[in-house]
This record gives sequence, structure tokens and C-alpha cells, in this order.
Amino acid sequence: MGQKIVEYLDERVRIRALMSFLLNEPMPGGSRWAYIPGSMVLFVLILQFITGMMLAFYYGGTPDHAWDSVNYIDHLTYKGVPVGRLIRGIHYWGSSIMVIAVGIHLLQVFLWGAYKRPREIMWLVGTVLLALTMTAAFSGYLLPWDERAYWGTIVGTNMIGLIPLVGEAIKDAIRGGVGLGALTLSHFFTLHTMILPTLFILFVMLHMVIFRRVGPAGPFSGTPEQNEATKDTFYPRQVLMDSFGMMGVFILILILAILRPPGLESVANPSNAAYNPTPAWYFDWIFQLLKMIRPEIVGVVGLPVLIAVVLVLLPFLDKKPVRSPFRRPLSVLSTLFVLVSMVVLSIMAENGYKKLVEVDRASMVRGQVVFNQSGCIGCHTVFGKGGKIGPDLSEEGLVGHSEHWLTVQFVNSKAHFPDSIMPDFTYLTKQQQHDLAMYISSLGRMGWPDPTKAQ
Ligand code: HEC
Repeated sequence: MGQKIVEYLDERVRIRALMSFLLNEPMPGGSRWAYIPGSMVLFVLILQFITGMMLAFYYGGTPDHAWDSVNYIDHLTYKGVPVGRLIRGIHYWGSSIMVIAVGIHLLQVFLWGAYKRPREIMWLVGTVLLALTMTAAFSGYLLPWDERAYWGTIVGTNMIGLIPLVGEAIKDAIRGGVGLGALTLSHFFTLHTMILPTLFILFVMLHMVIFRRVGPAGPFSGTPEQNEATKDTFYPRQVLMDSFGMMGVFILILILAILRPPGLESVANPSNAAYNPTPAWYFDWIFQLLKMIRPEIVGVVGLPVLIAVVLVLLPFLDKKPVRSPFRRPLSVLSTLFVLVSMVVLSIMAENGYKKLVEVDRASMVRGQVVFNQSGCIGCHTVFGKGGKIGPDLSEEGLVGHSEHWLTVQFVNSKAHFPDSIMPDFTYLTKQQQHDLAMYISSLGRMGWPDPTKAQ
């Protein structure tokens, strides 16, 4: 029967030639576990496509319906099984795992020197895929339209607004207006479900076509003759190893989706400027770096440009044919440095989030009045306006001071700085001190809008 089908298809669509082309790809140096990350990425991407389409069946992409529809998905059951939450969980964890898998894939290609000639173009296409992955993660963040989604996107898009000259225009174009609303949601939804998937398909195909044309790089240690002598074909061993890898990530994603289903915070409330947004964990390190680089714009514009330039130019600058990581100490050391920094920065970011003071908008607005009336602005700059005698209070450095620390600073600054020239504002009432502390705490968060202006 199977044989008949193959014969039937072979006569009409030449299936045998296609199968042999797909399966008999030569693997110089033989099949290896080390090759599985790429197919794991592809697998997670396909998983995202499938679960994404399922979610789209129930999702309503307007501010009136988005949150309700996601909430509905979360409560959708089939014969008592919470299938909705499960599918959403797979999609949610799939995005995290995809970022990790892409990271491992990139790291491996880098350490193995597999980006070197003649694979420069394949690497370039890979950097495009990396950018697409990040954009998919960012655009998906808004879709549940809960508090985290809304304020996270406010902060994210505000950062785009910092780009000189064109930033504001780009920001407004992305948002489809000054604030976040129906247009923003349909922009993000269209980007996430139509534009990005199309680009993904195109660039993944390009990546694979180039891969099939130049072939796998093979082990970095062997000579071409050795690799030729030990080569085998893609099928069956590599197919088996790849399948194991895919099964492994699928089980991991499934376990995460079951044990830690994604939450849904309360529906986005544009007037709740007291909300402390935090980015997805894989953006933590960038967020922390951005907080530390001053002036802001150097980090917000310079950092992504620097990362992009380094990645894009790498195969063109590093032309030495030597591939073994054991003979490229600089590459290995810089990888270690980047990885360790990312971990440290992420830990710092997470600790920073814990310290963020919950502020309520009413005190914040009253606090700003007290601030202006007490002459603080004469010495301190806030959002670009004010004196230069004291530190800029809209800088990030202040975030993390407790309310107690701040009130002591207002009434007895010498307790913190023995030679302080800041006057003691002992006449402030307890309420005014509280309001002022809330106002100050609301300042200086990365990308955080001036709380008293419209967002
Ligand atoms: C005469 C100038 C002056 C005035 C007015 C002033 N400050 Fe200051 N402030 C300073 C200086 C200088 C410092 C730096 C640390 C120090 O010397 O106390 C400072 C430090 C601070 C800090 C700590 C900043 C940090 O990064 O550690 C806060 C918060 C602060 N001021 C809030 C206020 C508020 C609120 C007012 C108004 C009620 C105010 N200041 C009025 C000069 C001033």
C-alpha cells in the first residue's frame, strides 16, 4: 500500500527525488547532537504558528474585547480539561523558550566559527531572524491588554520616542496616536499575526535554502579529508537526534504551561499611572543596562545599534578561517563576558523591580504641587527643566530609595550627606512629605512618562 502511494506520487510529483534531496543531505564529519539547536528553534517556531492560530480563533483585537477574550480563553475547557489555558500557556512559554533556543543556536554557531566564509549570508539572514523573534516577543506582550501589557508597552514605545529627530514620529506612528488605544492594538495585532509570520516564513526559507546550498560547516577540528571520510547523511541518524531535541523542548514547554500558566492581570487602566511595569525577563538585562547608561539616549539608541552592527559585521570583520574555539581565545572570552554580564544585569534588574515603590496617582499629583511650591525646582532638574545645583531627580538613581529615606532627605538631608547644602524642609506636613515622596518615586523610571502629563 505505502509503496503504491509512493509510486503514484512519484509519477506525478517526482516525490522520490524530493525525498532523497531532503533526506540524503551529506553531513560532513557525521551526525551530531551539537546540530540540534537549529531544528529546535524551527520546531518552537512552528509550535508558535499553530498555537497562535488557535488563539486567534478566540481573540478579539480591540481594547473593548481583548482582555475579555483572553480571559475567556483562560476559562475555556473541553471535558473538564482547561484547553484554552493550556494552548495559551504553550504559546506564552513557547516565546520564552524560542528566545532561549535562538540564543543557544546563535552561541553555538558563533563558538563553532560556523558563521565564517562561505556562510556569511546565512549568518546575516540569522540576524534578521533574531530581530524578528525579538519583535514578535515585544508585539505579543501587548495583546492580552492587561495592566502589565499596557504599561510595558507604554515604556517600550516611550524608549523609541527618545531617538533623536524621528523618534516621536515613529512612536506616534507605531501607537497610531499619542496614547495607546484601539489603533495601537490593531497595529500590534497585525504586526504579530500577519507581517511577522510572513517575514518569518520568507527568512526561514532563505536560511534553509542557503543552508542546503553551502551545507553544514561540520566539526571545527577535522580537516576536510577527515570530515569527508566520516560523513553520513541527514537521514536517519541526524533526523533521529533532531526529533529527540524537538520532543525535549516540547515536553519542557508543556510542563511549564501546565505548572506555570501565564497570568492575566486586571484589564489595562490608562489612568493607573501608579502601575510599575516590568519587561519580559529576557529583556531584563537590556533594561538594566539602559538604566545605567546616561544620558538616556546613548543607551536607548546606541546600545541596539551597537549590538546590531557587531552582529551584522562579525563575519565580514573576522575573516580568519580558524574555527576551533580552542584557538580563538578572544571569541570565547568575549562570549563568557557577555553571558556573565547578562546574568548579573538580569539579577540587578529583578532586585530593582522589588524595590519599586507603589505610588498612587493622587498623591503623585499633589506631590508635584508641593515640589513646585517649595522651590525644589530651583536646585533640581526634572524632565529637563530646573536648576543644576542638586542631582537630576528624574534620573534612575533615585528609584529604590524607600519612602523613609526620601522623607529624611527632605527634612534632614545632613543625615545622609553631612555637608549637604539642601535646606531642611521641616515645615512640610506628614501628608506633604508622603505626597512628595510619591512624586519623587514616580520619577526616573526608564521610559516612564512624566506622571502629570497625558501618556
Ligand atoms: C539649595 C538647593 C536645593 C534645594 C532648594 C533642594 N535641594 Fe534636594 N538636593 C540638593 C543637593 C545639593 C543634593 C545632593 C545631596 C545633598 O547634598 O544633600 C540634594 C539631594 C536631594 C535628594 C537625593 C538625591 C539623590 O540622588 O540621592 C532628593 C530626593 C532631593 N534632594 C529632593 C529635594 C526636594 C523634594 C526638594 C524640595 C522640597 C529639594 N530637594 C530642594 C540641593 C537642593
